[in-house]
Amino acid sequence: MNILGIETSCDDTAVAIYSDTKGILSNIVSSQIQIHQQWGGVFPELAAREHTKNILYVLDTAIKEANITPEEIDGIAVTVAPGLIVSLVIGFSAAKALSLAWDKLLIPVHHIEAHIFANFIEKEVPYPFLALVVSGGHTELHIIKGFENYQFLGGTLDDAVGEAYDKVARMLGLGYPGGPIIDKLAKEGREVIKFPRPLIKDKGKNKFNFSFSGLKSAVLREIEKGNFKKEDIAKSFQEAATDVLVYKTIDAAMEFNIKNIVVAGGVSANSRLREKLLNFGKTKNLNIHFPPLYLCTDNAAMVAYTGFKRFKEKHKTINLDFEAKARLRLDKFVDILYKS
Ligand code: KG4
Ligand code: ZN
Repeated sequence: MNILGIETSCDDTAVAIYSDTKGILSNIVSSQIQIHQQWGGVFPELAAREHTKNILYVLDTAIKEANITPEEIDGIAVTVAPGLIVSLVIGFSAAKALSLAWDKLLIPVHHIEAHIFANFIEKEVPYPFLALVVSGGHTELHIIKGFENYQFLGGTLDDAVGEAYDKVARMLGLGYPGGPIIDKLAKEGREVIKFPRPLIKDKGKNKFNFSFSGLKSAVLREIEKGNFKKEDIAKSFQEAATDVLVYKTIDAAMEFNIKNIVVAGGVSANSRLREKLLNFGKTKNLNIHFPPLYLCTDNAAMVAYTGFKRFKEKHKTINLDFEAKARLRLDKFVDILYKS
């Protein structure tokens, strides 16, 4: 079975083809980094305009690189939520058009779900597992009891961790996206400032929730004082942000007695997060799984694979009247899917 995946939820225009016998046949991502760099973040209308410009070229390239004909494609998987609505609808419209013109199955995928199951493409993880989702738009903990059996534990009350990385990088004048730049710069710095670790010890209603805007403001105050080098600020910020992620994740794994932890989303590429989770996880006998680096940030291979799983395991498809959604929690997505 060959599934074509389309992903346009934010600023990457991506198309990939996944084969159940041969794996990823092609995985094309057209990045808009150059366009958004001047704003220090994603500018929604520009993102939508670029998707419209790029989608057909990316589609064509993915099909050519996979060396496949449309007749050999069985279904079109597409990210339908969450994301920038103006971006989502472009990929979704392309998917609907292809499914209609080629008479193919149309399979919906949730962006967070795709990030999580990117971990399965090379090697499956046993259920149940805990998923820490860390990206530019999300910071969430879920218990994944099985495919489509998801329990939401908590999420961010304000900024996502990737967003905090991007904003701190902008405040330091380092460019966009800030995560990889700060990750690299922090390796040359020392933790000279003990920044706050928001909600890290909360045992109440925010036990599994996150908050990064206070940390970001604390960093801004230090930058304005001008007493420290950029690399030391980067290191101090990275230590605080990753401490919160690691501490809360391990705490959740212990509380729910879950032995496997999956990390997903763009920030899962972070070298310090990987190092700390692996070290701390070892002391608690936990198995920590990360996606390969080329599948951490947005791509369509994860969408094609998750769409393949949805069809193989659940035989679930949707009709052309299904709508994209800017905001939709992972567990609620499953509810909506089976009401449609
Ligand atoms: O998953 P993703 O590609 O897009 C969203 O779904 O949001 O994640 C992008 C985010 C950006 O905020 C970027 O700065 C961050 O992932 N990121 C990193 C690293 N690589 C990408 N953050 C920290 N360290 C990294 N190495
Ligand atoms: Zn993403």
